[in-house]
Amino acid sequence: MKSANTEHKDLLQWVDDMARMCKPDSVYWCDGSKEEYDSLMAGMVASGSALPLKKRPNSFLFRSQPSDVARVEDRTYISTKEQSQAGPTNNWVETEELKGIMRGLYDGCMKGRTMYVIPFSMGPIGSPIAKIGIEITDSPYVVCNMHIMTRVGTKVLQQLGSDGEFVPCLHSVGAPLEKGEKDVPWPCAPMDRKYISHFPDENLIWSYGSGYGGNALLGKKCLALRIASAMARREGWMAEHMLILRLTSPAGRQYHIAAAFPSASGKTNLAMIQPTVEGWKAECIGDDIAWMKVRPDGRLHAINPEAGFFGVAPGTSYSSNPAAMDTIKENCIFTNCGLTDDGDIWWEGMTKEPPAHTIDWRAQDWTPESKDPTAHPNARFTAPARQCPIISPDWEKLEGVPIDIFIFGGRRASTVPLVHEAFSWEHGVFMGATASSETTAANIGSIGDVRRDPFAMKPFCGYHMGDYFQHWLDMGKRLGDKAPRIFYTNWFRKTADGRWLWPGFGDNSRVLKWMCERVDGKAGAQETAIGYMPSAEDLDLAGFDVPAEDIKELLRIDVDAWKEEVKDMEKHFAQFGDRLPQVLAEELKALAKRLGS
Ligand code: GTP
Ligand code: SPV
Ligand code: MN
Repeated sequence: MKSANTEHKDLLQWVDDMARMCKPDSVYWCDGSKEEYDSLMAGMVASGSALPLKKRPNSFLFRSQPSDVARVEDRTYISTKEQSQAGPTNNWVETEELKGIMRGLYDGCMKGRTMYVIPFSMGPIGSPIAKIGIEITDSPYVVCNMHIMTRVGTKVLQQLGSDGEFVPCLHSVGAPLEKGEKDVPWPCAPMDRKYISHFPDENLIWSYGSGYGGNALLGKKCLALRIASAMARREGWMAEHMLILRLTSPAGRQYHIAAAFPSASGKTNLAMIQPTVEGWKAECIGDDIAWMKVRPDGRLHAINPEAGFFGVAPGTSYSSNPAAMDTIKENCIFTNCGLTDDGDIWWEGMTKEPPAHTIDWRAQDWTPESKDPTAHPNARFTAPARQCPIISPDWEKLEGVPIDIFIFGGRRASTVPLVHEAFSWEHGVFMGATASSETTAANIGSIGDVRRDPFAMKPFCGYHMGDYFQHWLDMGKRLGDKAPRIFYTNWFRKTADGRWLWPGFGDNSRVLKWMCERVDGKAGAQETAIGYMPSAEDLDLAGFDVPAEDIKELLRIDVDAWKEEVKDMEKHFAQFGDRLPQVLAEELKALAKRLGS
């Protein structure tokens, strides 16, 4: 077993304390090497929790416990001294009380298991925007995923030195093993014993009971969004649930776009877009999280703090997202996908023709006649970002890329048009603050309900949402005329009988091109009640076979439906009380007035 390769006293002390509490059989410090990954994976293959895939080199399939398939927002906490610090959109339990409950659960929770210590960097090591975390976990599945999703190992400890700052992240699947007890393929705790807890006042994360995704890979939502958003506010930067992409025009001008859509609502797909508009080229920089700082040039620069993609599998295909399909050819982890008879994975939408037979994510026989899908709707691939064929050569640039355009959006079957542009930064912040979307399988709970998901951050903001809105307004003041332009999109509008009006995916480039031309003052727009909007003539629709009536419907503002939206926005804003910035209350009034209500 590898021992500590650090002289960082606080780190050594913390690991010691956690080991005393969790009582693992042994402690192992991860070095991030390929040998380490291979040997952990070999162990999981031997125990039966990982299945090697014949068709994809160095790739493995895992099946989770059926109750542990997604993030658990109901069991996720922002814990502070006062409830008002967490605000109305977060679950809250007072810090000492929550720690008391969790210490009880952690006591002896790693018996019969190894405690892994994972030093990881969010962001390229040495970037002025990067941060270091240390995850302690008893799950080798988590270690292997962290190898792909972050930069792990000895080089991180070197960067940390003997007194560097790190975010301690404690994770346990919450399933101690008695002497001689055989492990199950996916250990975890029952729902009412799961806790995904954040203590933003001390940059601390304690997660217990789940092995899945954002509940367990603590660098992602827990550190890079919930803890980082609180740090960012204190330190004057931004941590956002945003993809980052670079578009290059036929003339060679580069535009950097950061877009916030809720979970399972199109970030990975947009991040890897293959434009259908002539001559435009796209490169991917990140697909889920953006960390942004104002650089000496006065502009906002973004890095992708992650090193891999934890992407939604169902729906990913060579026609919807060829770059993702090429990214996942090898060296990947697949979770809750179907297994084909020839040793490959398959999920709904991957190919037009489904295979005649698979083993589904619950390890049951499946045929196209089966009632349920073979892949869980939140089945995921974990893939190294460097394998993406269109990853930008600048994706690891230490100082990040300068952002020109922000996009907010969500899934709305009706009401919200294809695209509209903010009148001003304040109006753009209003659009982000009132963003709405239908819920998806990325969280355990109901699916398809419209909810307000401000900035796609409702599940990820580590402090009072009203203060977060103010932080956005403050950043705008600092950026002045160097602030990115703000747009709002909805790729998901449907006809009354449930057909998508917009083909989406590569054709979203038609909307991105309009945005870039707006930035350059070249494209036309109409001033409407909700913002600037293109007419059909302002969009590049060359070679596009969507009927003119559909385009008209996509760009239609249903005034009565928008008056209903305003009522719902009023309710949404009311929950923030006097922490709602006055500017946003005024934006809402102005919208109501423009709608004639
Ligand atoms: P997280 O990883 O949960 O944050 O999700 P995400 O925002 O990255 O979503 P992703 O790109 O993985 O898309 C989720 C689902 O939406 C997939 O099934 C996609 O096929 C589908 N989707 C993505 N973009 C579009 C689009 O433009 N139109 C339509 N109709 N569906 C889309
Ligand atoms: C999301 O839910 O927004 C994800 C997946 O990106 S998870 O890592 O599980 O949070
Ligand atoms: Mn996400």
